Amino acid sequence: ADLSALNTFGLIARAACLVRVRSIEDARELLAGPAWSQQPRLVLGGGSNLILRGDFAGTVMRMEIGGRRLVREDDTHWIVEAGAGEPWHDFVRWTLEQGWPGLENLSLIPGTVGAAPIQNIGAYGLEMADRFESLDVIDLDDGSERVFAAADCRFGYRDSVFKQQPGRWLVTRVRFRLARDWAPLTRYADVERELADKGIDTPTAMDISDAVIAIRRRKLPDPVEIGNAGSFFKNPVVEADCCARLLAAHPTLPHYPQADGRIKLAAGWLIEQAGWKGRDLGPVGCYERQALVLVNRGGARGDDVARIAVAIQADVQARFGVMLEPEPVFV
Ligand code: EPU
Repeated sequence: ADLSALNTFGLIARAACLVRVRSIEDARELLAGPAWSQQPRLVLGGGSNLILRGDFAGTVMRMEIGGRRLVREDDTHWIVEAGAGEPWHDFVRWTLEQGWPGLENLSLIPGTVGAAPIQNIGAYGLEMADRFESLDVIDLDDGSERVFAAADCRFGYRDSVFKQQPGRWLVTRVRFRLARDWAPLTRYADVERELADKGIDTPTAMDISDAVIAIRRRKLPDPVEIGNAGSFFKNPVVEADCCARLLAAHPTLPHYPQADGRIKLAAGWLIEQAGWKGRDLGPVGCYERQALVLVNRGGARGDDVARIAVAIQADVQARFGVMLEPEPVFV
């Protein structure tokens, strides 16, 4: 099976076997059958956070469990659920249309609902973990079905137990907790500016969603038009003394103090300063409007992505002494 259309970077790769899973029953059947006993195995959602290094010798499960519903509501919250295969952005817009605010800052993020907890997607001052209620998983080691609360998921910045234990867990449904006493989250400079430009000073959740969509369309390439996997590196988090040293040499360095006293730096800025913004290496480029995003200029393979990633890491390391860590999962 051809995987090129199933990964947003558009990397050329084939899988020995591809199975689409549309229900829990499909999943149980696949896990009990012969195809899944063959190694290696891979679970694929929207393929938007994935770098395929080459052809895949085993079975790829494409998660396509659908459905979205209000599980319950009380005086303070709505609990909303979606199948892991639901497209994330459609789900976000649906919640907003129903009058359940809370996920608007995460509008237009590519990928599926089931992939959202894997890397704890985040943007414009909000992380998925901030709105998370629980999820259903199947333990691929023994086929048992379990419900995970937030603590079980061990969410961190672009991190979770699912990323730490690759191949172990199959997320099938995710529930979110949306508070009735909603307040807009507009502290992120880009969002503030976008709303001000439109003359909106008391934004609705839908206004924020529209603002985020406008910002993302300006800065980030649409994977349908230009292959990419979103931010290619995590923003590095460094010790305060390291940041102070860098600031002395580079006074305009963007830096964001974290709750634990460490400081998050903007990888996009470091990459731009290292001269990579808009530059290509073979068929992969560093995007001209957001240096943190690598793009497929056409016909790229996993090794081409790895080559430019390593070159960027080396230059940033040499210039700033900071090691960038890739954000998507390499397979
Ligand atoms: N910057 C540059 N040059 C660039 C890009 C960024 O100097 O080429 C500077 C900006 O001027 C700004 C700072 O870096 O001062 C931060 O840039 P931006 O607001 O664009 O966000 P980011 O840190 O590059 C992160 C997330 C994005 C998310 C945005 C908005 C990570 C790895 N990335 O990017 O998430 O959309 O914030 O919240 O945390 C993703 O994970 O795939 C993703 C797109």
